Amino acid sequence: MSDSFKIGLAGLGTVGVGVIKMLQQNADVIAARAGRSIEIISVIAGIKAKDRGVDISAYDWANSLEDMAQDQRLDAVIEMVGGSDGEIKSFVETALDNGKHIVTANKALLAHHGYDLAQRAENNNVTIAYEAAVAGGIPIIKSLREGLAGNKINSVYGILNGTCNYILTEMRETGRDFADVLDEAQEKGYAEADPTFDVDGIDAAHKLVLLGALAFGVKPDFDALNIEGIRHITSKDIRYADDLGYRIKLIGMARLSQDGNAMQSIAPCLVSTKSAIAGVEGVFNAVQTNGDFVDQTMMEGRGAGEGPTASSILADIIDLARGNNRLIFGVPTAQLNTAQWQGAEVLSCQCYIHVKAEDKSGVIADITACLKEADVSIDSFIQRGHEDDGSASVVIVTHEARFSDIQKAVKIVEGLACVLDKPTLLRIEDI
Ligand code: HSE
Repeated sequence: MSDSFKIGLAGLGTVGVGVIKMLQQNADVIAARAGRSIEIISVIAGIKAKDRGVDISAYDWANSLEDMAQDQRLDAVIEMVGGSDGEIKSFVETALDNGKHIVTANKALLAHHGYDLAQRAENNNVTIAYEAAVAGGIPIIKSLREGLAGNKINSVYGILNGTCNYILTEMRETGRDFADVLDEAQEKGYAEADPTFDVDGIDAAHKLVLLGALAFGVKPDFDALNIEGIRHITSKDIRYADDLGYRIKLIGMARLSQDGNAMQSIAPCLVSTKSAIAGVEGVFNAVQTNGDFVDQTMMEGRGAGEGPTASSILADIIDLARGNNRLIFGVPTAQLNTAQWQGAEVLSCQCYIHVKAEDKSGVIADITACLKEADVSIDSFIQRGHEDDGSASVVIVTHEARFSDIQKAVKIVEGLACVLDKPTLLRIEDI
């Protein structure tokens, strides 16, 4: 294996530039670990003439994605363009059909088409490596597929979106509201101009789908996922949660029960301030797994950015250069099960409910009657003073109950004449 491992880089944005820098700066250690040198043969991006802060003059500029996908010199193409359909999907398909491994950070593509692409890769005796697609620099894919391979994984929890975690952390630390902090995050470059994918939970959902497939040996199924983002979380919710001993985090959760039912959800949840995951702040990500022999493990690190993402991409390139043709979801695609997915409503959990109501007699009695009607028992109940507009905030922590019953209770509360806004309902996760 003395020939160099030859790659093409598609996409020269932040991540692409990071990959080039890392390959240039750490060439010796990378070659030693790969058993041969890694050689960039060609690159392609939207604009050719642009100062990217790295010297790319030694590399060919590919005429098109299609040309790169068919370039007989390449062992692998590194896809850093993004997008889940159209040209990028056909680029990946063509590269696989031409016997090239794919290394990618593209979680959307794999969350939507991972099963078909994995079959295609297998048929062509190549693989798709996606360490960079989930939680940036955290090596969770290798950890699940290799380090924890002997375990039955029962659950995977994660903070999988740095933008949301940054916003929630800032809201807690400064008392500011969501919109204000989002504006600042956009100014600082932590949030995209269109923040939808991040703040509505879609980016985290893409990542969770891949973790669930790998952890449980099931076909990735994006459509089976409950997704709730963080737009409706207020600074008051964060303060009340804090007073009760909790942090609000956007939690990705995938679980496999003993009867074979699987559940995956993305939702803002309360976690105890004493839990390790509560201490994961700012743009950091974390993934916690639970395996039958290993018990609990947790990894924390940067979930995005030039260095962390390049770190994961290089790990995959080194693996491939070493000749490791890994199974994409841990088992051959023919052995991936079709999970019986269930929604979060089947969970049994405690919940936090925040109701904005008129501040007048009988309101508390009306609200508690609604919970009684749905057979939901209250663990603690706090009324928070008078707001400027004469309303009151009623904060309830329920006893453990079926989530669907608590949802039903909150629906009834929402219909009360004294209730001024849609109540906030969040699960309390015992992580
Ligand atoms: N935008 C993502 C985040 C990183 O904020 O974590 C890329 O998936």
